[in-house]
Amino acid sequence: MLLREAVYYDAAGLKRLASEGEPYKAGGDSTMSEAVRTMLQTNAEAVQEAAALADAGFLWDFWYPAVRSAEIRGQKLVTAMLLEVPLVIGRTSEGKAFAMRDSCPHRGIPLSYGRLDGTVVECCYHGWRFDACSGRCVEIPSLTSQDKLKVERIFAGHFPCEECDGYVWVYMSGPGTQLPETVPAAPALNVFSDKYKIIHLSCELPSHVDHGIIGLMDPAHGPFVHQSWFWRKRASIHEKAKQFEPIPNGFRMSPHQPSANSAPYRLLAKMTGETVTTTIDFVLPNLRTEIDRSGKLWFSSRATVTPVRRDLCRIDFVAAWNLLIPLAVFRPFAKKFLRQDQLTMIQQAEGLKYNPRLMLIDDADRQAKWYFALKANLLESRRTGAAMVHPMNGPVTLHWRS
Ligand code: FES
Ligand SMILES: [Fe+2]
Repeated sequence: MLLREAVYYDAAGLKRLASEGEPYKAGGDSTMSEAVRTMLQTNAEAVQEAAALADAGFLWDFWYPAVRSAEIRGQKLVTAMLLEVPLVIGRTSEGKAFAMRDSCPHRGIPLSYGRLDGTVVECCYHGWRFDACSGRCVEIPSLTSQDKLKVERIFAGHFPCEECDGYVWVYMSGPGTQLPETVPAAPALNVFSDKYKIIHLSCELPSHVDHGIIGLMDPAHGPFVHQSWFWRKRASIHEKAKQFEPIPNGFRMSPHQPSANSAPYRLLAKMTGETVTTTIDFVLPNLRTEIDRSGKLWFSSRATVTPVRRDLCRIDFVAAWNLLIPLAVFRPFAKKFLRQDQLTMIQQAEGLKYNPRLMLIDDADRQAKWYFALKANLLESRRTGAAMVHPMNGPVTLHWRS
């Protein structure tokens, strides 16, 4: 049993389980002509690339937010990186967002140097043209009437793409894996009335996504990192008992009355005269949601930690509420809060460079242990095809001081 004992783990070795499978192919298939095939990377190179990506500790086959919706306007092509995959993102003339691998399948130049023409992206090098939503090649200008090359069999890499809550989400299908027949919907923020205010913030953290995530669910840093007059003081630290329950792919801090030492919650209770109930969920691959409700008033937030590269991740925070708190009042507080986390993780990255041995202790780090176990068990179930084993076998109460 892991309970009540310290677990050591390695900063570089945060459970990295390779999922086996074919390498990601930029395009084409086995019936492609030799002329095209020779231009693609050799199989050995592709296998190496897939192994390197699998080794990075990323969770594939999930939705990740890539850019804000507002960034893709008109004919603009925007670049982003998710799970070390360079992407080019844009919007067709019909308004549909699309995400392609930012690499021309001909000779690898980023497609983002090319141009978007309604529904087609044209490479800047030799002018190959690709349908933006499917990645299918629609024209190779150098071909003559004598050429037999089947243009429509060539594909640029492309990924399912959806817009939700002001973000462009990209479904990062794993290297060499087939897309499921129906890709699930991108995760939407919980809202509880027609009218509400909404805010988006983001910040980059110079660390592996695992550190970003366990930082997000870590209850013990609050009194030290987030000291401020509006939130709490170090001296307000006190013992807490919180009940958790398993949910699919994650865990829930069961609905409870939030910490009495936090000013915003006291304010909410004062406004409605009713009790405040808070529910906090963590769900793989990277989502932490919090819902606070008191009478008719509600506040809902979602933080995702998205892997950009193995040494860089990004927190995207979105919150919505129907309380009488103006955006201009909430924004600086939320910004300060995120900035405190960011500064701490910049400092932590300094130490992690030297690959120290690290510890997870009970009960304050139990959620981090569940996260690693969920991740490992998910990869194991994908590998074997067996049902995923949940690391929790029922509700459990954790105790810590914060
Ligand atoms: S590299 Fe894109 S068309 Fe040749
Ligand atoms: Fe924090």
